[in-house]
Amino acid sequence: MAIRNIVKIGDDILRKVCRTQLNFDDRLHTVLDDMAETMYRAEGVGLAAPQIGILRRYCVVDVGDGLLELINPVILETDGEQVGEEGCLSIPGEYGMVKRPEKITVRAQDRNGNTFTVTVEGFKARACCHEIDHLDGVLYIDKTEKESR
Ligand code: NI
Repeated sequence: MAIRNIVKIGDDILRKVCRTQLNFDDRLHTVLDDMAETMYRAEGVGLAAPQIGILRRYCVVDVGDGLLELINPVILETDGEQVGEEGCLSIPGEYGMVKRPEKITVRAQDRNGNTFTVTVEGFKARACCHEIDHLDGVLYIDKTEKESR
């Protein structure tokens, strides 16, 4: 495994819409392993592929209850709302309040291409929404009010 460089705000890569991941091979597994290691090293709770310069639709999340890998994730359902503080490894030293759903159901594929559905709530739902937004070039600062930054 290896630590990857995290792309920082100002780089156009963070604003691109990522493409579907089609291959579930050793190469993907290596990148996923590197992403987890990079996220843990940076003490983050999530990391999306574009943040390491790969314009593909996958991300990793770990809010302290184990690693969740989401490949080609789609939010099927949302419920409720929550407002809470968010930061981003691509935007060091900044935080902002963002409104997110309280609970979401996500359909995704695992690293072997198997489709699964997961329902998450609270902070984990927030982290998943944040990472899935990255796959469409959306950053949390697009959703936070300026005066709260
Ligand atoms: Ni982020």
